[in-house]
Parts: sequence; C-alpha cells; structure tokens
Amino acid sequence: MQDREREITLRFLAEPTDVNFGGKVHGGAVMKWIDQAGYACAVAWSGQYCVTVYVGGIRFHRPVLIGNVVEVSAKLIYTGKTSMHVAVEVSAGDPKEGLYAKTTQCIIVFVAVDDRGTPVEVERWEPESEQDVAFERYAKKLMDLRKDTDKEMSPHGIALY
Ligand SMILES: CC(C)(COP(=O)(O)OP(=O)(O)OC[C@H]1O[C@@H](n2cnc3c(N)ncnc32)[C@H](O)[C@@H]1OP(=O)(O)O)[C@@H](O)C(=O)NCCC(=O)NCCS
Repeated sequence: MQDREREITLRFLAEPTDVNFGGKVHGGAVMKWIDQAGYACAVAWSGQYCVTVYVGGIRFHRPVLIGNVVEVSAKLIYTGKTSMHVAVEVSAGDPKEGLYAKTTQCIIVFVAVDDRGTPVEVERWEPESEQDVAFERYAKKLMDLRKDTDKEMSPHGIALY
C-alpha cells in the first residue's frame, strides 16, 4: 500500500461566467478544470511543483450546462522517471435531478520540476489491482502511439507558419 494520494476529485457548480456562444459551458473552461484536477493529482503524488507536458485524447462526449454540478476526477495511472500520467474524467448533471453523466475524458502528462524548471524524479507508482495493471498498460500503449504522432508533428513535419 502506497501512502501518497493517487487520486483527487473536484466538485463545483458550472457558473454563468463559464458560458460559450452557444449558451453551454465553454470547452476551454472544461480543459482548464481538467488541467487543474490533473495538476492537483500530480502535485499530491510527487510533492513537487509540476508542469503539463502533454494533453491527449480529449473527447467531449456531451455538453456541460450552466448550473450543473461538475465532478472532475483525476487518477494517476503511470509514473515514469520524472513524469506522471493522469487520466481525467469529467461528469456533470442537474442537481435537481441528481443524475450525472460522463461529459469529457482525457489523459494528461505532468512532469515534476525543481525551482529552475528542471525535471526531477518522482516516486514510482506500483499498480495494485487488476484495474491498475490495465490502466498502466493503457498508458504505455498511448506512449507508443504518441511516438509516431510526435514524429509527424516534429519541426521537420508540417510547419503552419
Ligand atoms: C516539461 C519540461 C520541463 C520537460 O523538459 P525536457 O527537457 O523535455 O525533459 P525530458 O526530455 O527529460 O522529459 C521529461 C519527461 O517528460 C516526458 N515527455 C517529454 N515529451 C513528452 C510528450 N510529448 N508526451 C509525454 N511525455 C513527454 C519525458 O518522457 C520525460 O518523462 P520521464 O522522465 O518519466 O521519462 C519542458 O518541456 C517544459 O518546461 N515544457 C513547458 C511546460 C509548460 O509550460 N506547461 C504548460 C504550463 S504548466
């Protein structure tokens, strides 16, 4: 059993200031919540300041409505030498009905850094349950897939400007 906190959930109301031009919650607001929950999870695990190095696989399944209760859950699913891979899931629903549904999910990778922004080693997370093992396998598979994407997107690939 590892002592450090491995997961965190933020709960709050979607406010009118989060609105987009269609009257629902702005995708950028959802991405900010995802980053915040993932950050809190990575910092709690590493005990260090962390920066986001990669955000991937973000999928908006359904909109979040203003006035919904929003739950943003972040769970560590893999640790490298200095990186922490965090799965984040957002669910939301009308508090009057009490029915909550998944709206968004993604994977974020954080790196623990020192005062100068240099990556520092993090404690290894060991999978304990079968589900943990599956999560870790999933994170590793995404890492492999990213190698191809990163190559395509490298400075030698397509330049926009
Ligand atoms: C994150 C940062 C410190 C990494 O520096 P770096 O010199 O590339 O460091 P490294 O090459 O040693 O990589 C550090 C870790 O990042 C991981 N990493 C690098 N590129 C990655 C990518 N595209 N996807 C996932 N992980 C990646 C590496 O695998 C390594 O993890 P490991 O130690 O567990 O193996 C640097 O890129 C940075 O400062 N980026 C900007 C961060 C930022 O401003 N974020 C937004 C606001 S918080």
